[in-house]
Amino acid sequence: MSSVTQKAAEAEENIDHDNAHSAASNGLEIKEIPGSYGRIPFISPIMDRLEYFYFKGQDKFFQTRIERFKSTVFRTNMPPGPFMASNPRVIAVLDAKSFPVLFDSSRIEKKDVLYGTYLPSTKLTGNYRVCANLDPSEPNHAKIKQFLLNLLSSRKDQIIPAFRTSFVAPLFAKLESQITSNGQSDFNKLNDKFALEFLGDAYFGSSPSRTGLDLQTNATKWLFLQLAPLISKLIPFSFLEDLLLHTFPFPPFLVKSDYNALYSYFRSVGANAVDNLATQVGLSREEAIHNLLYATIFNAYGGFKVLLPTILKWLALSSSNTDLHARIASEVRSAVGGENGQLTITALEKMDLIRSVVYEALRIDPPVQFQYGHAKKDFILESHDAAFQVRKGEMIFGYQPFATTDSRVFGSDSREFVPDRFVGDNGKLLKYVWWSNGPETEDPTVGNKQCAGKDFVVLVARLFVAELFLRYDSFTAVVGKFLLGAQVTFTSVSKAKTKIA
Ligand code: HEM
Repeated sequence: MSSVTQKAAEAEENIDHDNAHSAASNGLEIKEIPGSYGRIPFISPIMDRLEYFYFKGQDKFFQTRIERFKSTVFRTNMPPGPFMASNPRVIAVLDAKSFPVLFDSSRIEKKDVLYGTYLPSTKLTGNYRVCANLDPSEPNHAKIKQFLLNLLSSRKDQIIPAFRTSFVAPLFAKLESQITSNGQSDFNKLNDKFALEFLGDAYFGSSPSRTGLDLQTNATKWLFLQLAPLISKLIPFSFLEDLLLHTFPFPPFLVKSDYNALYSYFRSVGANAVDNLATQVGLSREEAIHNLLYATIFNAYGGFKVLLPTILKWLALSSSNTDLHARIASEVRSAVGGENGQLTITALEKMDLIRSVVYEALRIDPPVQFQYGHAKKDFILESHDAAFQVRKGEMIFGYQPFATTDSRVFGSDSREFVPDRFVGDNGKLLKYVWWSNGPETEDPTVGNKQCAGKDFVVLVARLFVAELFLRYDSFTAVVGKFLLGAQVTFTSVSKAKTKIA
């Protein structure tokens, strides 16, 4: 062994030794990871899948195992399993101490794990492995992520005007007219339409409708094909649905023409970004366009489809027992009043309650609930109560809604929506908000796997709440469940009575 290799091996050994030492010095006993993958190969993962989707539901699936094994770290199969995923075996990490291992690039490899234990065909992404499926150790990850970060930063002054023109104005006009004529308005449907318009406008200065296109159906079909293995309760016949959605992947040709329509739009409106920004980082035109498409439609559009209804859900549910709506309305109007009636970044920065409401929604209901990664080497994993030996190659799986509602961090009301939780927080608890696949107090870089759109997402979410309460004193809505998120149907809005101060 050369001296360099020997030193590297020694360093590796020291890391693991330190890790084991730290577990010991924390007073944690190193235990066998409880749980199992079932006795009957093939059948056990299918039984687990049925339990997860139909017999128990996802929260109970995890909760009953935590109780049975008296541990927040355990072995289990994760759906979809056969025939979709060749290996459904994971080590689940469900508390605030063990979960962050998934952010540690030195211990966890995040190659092809965005969807978890299954991987849709690259035929759905122009035969490229897109950024979200690359590990930071792969050279293209840095190029693509830098390209997307540069694009977002080059468009930062366009976000507020684009949100007003392409989302807020048309959406709220439609919402009001639907309430007047039908007594209700389906927010999810409006959001699906205008979020896509907004993203095109914000990133490229050209929404699909301005180029004469309606890409909503193309985008939804393409997303559905990739996410079908995670969806349930779409039809009333569970076994048929399980066979249709969770057993075999849909063939990519079903959405070939949809993908081509999306691709043409991005090739045309993204030409400037590709010419100026992708070439700068050494990324080919083709790969840049497929990644623009993916980041805009899968990451951003897919994310906003879930996030905005979720925020509304919590605002609607909180309206009956607190004066939350009145407090937010007053905060927005006084901040905007101080900026000559303009909703600017400076005005937004003064809205501490809105900031807290958005973080609380992201904490209690993260839009992406699952995170996965493979152990790059053997290491000791710590939960609050014990330490466990993880072996190289094993898959770690985090169910974020449990980790970010850990009562040992967030206290006895950890599973309640507390609108003021992050007011005046200064990062104390914000470092435990992980919706972006990393602490809210840290930034996405080419060296990590944190969401490239982190700041954009939080800005838009805060703008959305501010715009809502600039127009209305209050609203009521019926809240339900829809696919991977909430369904929100507005039933009334009361127009703002007080003028801006
Ligand atoms: C509500 C909206 C969004 C949500 C909830 C969201 C969530 C996430 C999450 C959880 C991840 C990590 C996935 C994993 O590896 O486990 C991620 C990664 C990523 N997101 Fe977002 N995202 C959103 C919007 C955006 C936007 C607007 C962009 C625009 C560029 C974006 C670009 C990306 C990219 C490129 C990655 C991969 C990062 C990497 O490979 O290092 N996302 N996002």
